[in-house]
Amino acid sequence: MPAFSFAPIDLTGAQPLISGGDRHVFQHPGDPHLLIKVLDREAREIYERKRRLRRWYRRFRRASEHRVFMDEITEYIAAASQAPSPMPLARILGVAETTQGLGMLVEKISDGQGGLAPTLTAVVREQGLTPALRAQLDALFDSLAAAHIIVNDVSGGNIVVGSNAQGRQGMYLVDGFGNKQAVPFYAMSKRLNARRLQRKYQELLDELQRHTGRVAGFAAGQGAVPAGTRAEATQSSGRPQRSTRQ
Ligand SMILES: Nc1ncnc2c1ncn2[C@@H]1O[C@H](COP(=O)(O)OP(=O)(O)OP(=O)(O)O)[C@@H](O)[C@H]1O
Ligand SMILES: [Mg+2]
Repeated sequence: MPAFSFAPIDLTGAQPLISGGDRHVFQHPGDPHLLIKVLDREAREIYERKRRLRRWYRRFRRASEHRVFMDEITEYIAAASQAPSPMPLARILGVAETTQGLGMLVEKISDGQGGLAPTLTAVVREQGLTPALRAQLDALFDSLAAAHIIVNDVSGGNIVVGSNAQGRQGMYLVDGFGNKQAVPFYAMSKRLNARRLQRKYQELLDELQRHTGRVAGFAAGQGAVPAGTRAEATQSSGRPQRSTRQ
């Protein structure tokens, strides 16, 4: 049997494992280590209905709604071609046609039991930002800087804690990478990019602090924001989840 098929992947009747603000995430029917991300057209239409100018502009940009795929794939290629493996990203295997539109095939970061790995936000909500998690986060940001990976949204919902397809345990960025700058300063300078990552790290710590009153290692009251954040998918019920934009 050939390893690849050109027939569109049939997602008819399939329930997404989870849905983000922009995309549905499906299990690949033929490989337990693969996920398929497809655009959530309904969410996109609701978003664009309110933005007439953007809708008009979109008509003149081919593939504009798939821009997020293109940005991620470009960044993945830029990083993978230079950085030694393993990288702290869910790897991208390619794109494929599906019955729900073009899909991006990505490595599934799992919880070790076949399910999706929990997001960092979910883990921090449950156990606080423990010293062990903090050390893993330090390592994640160090390796993002070392691999010269450009990020745009490193929020707790875009980082997951689990095992990659080869069983390597760690924190992985599953979304939010890619360059959005018109003049790509961060692509040109590894040092500038590393400094920006430091700032993003601090913002992430502030964000995580909002998710728990039990964040270890923070001075009481530092950057405090009232609790009461939105629900985060736990991926434990077996039902499709909608993750929250962090
Ligand atoms: N490779 C992966 N491995 C495990 N879980 C993943 C992976 N990719 C995505 N997820 C889960 O699916 C959720 C939504 O995916 P993703 O962030 O890519 O969607 P999105 O719609 O682009 O997100 P956003 O809401 O940030 O715009 C993530 O928060 C994460 O819980
Ligand atoms: Mg996301």
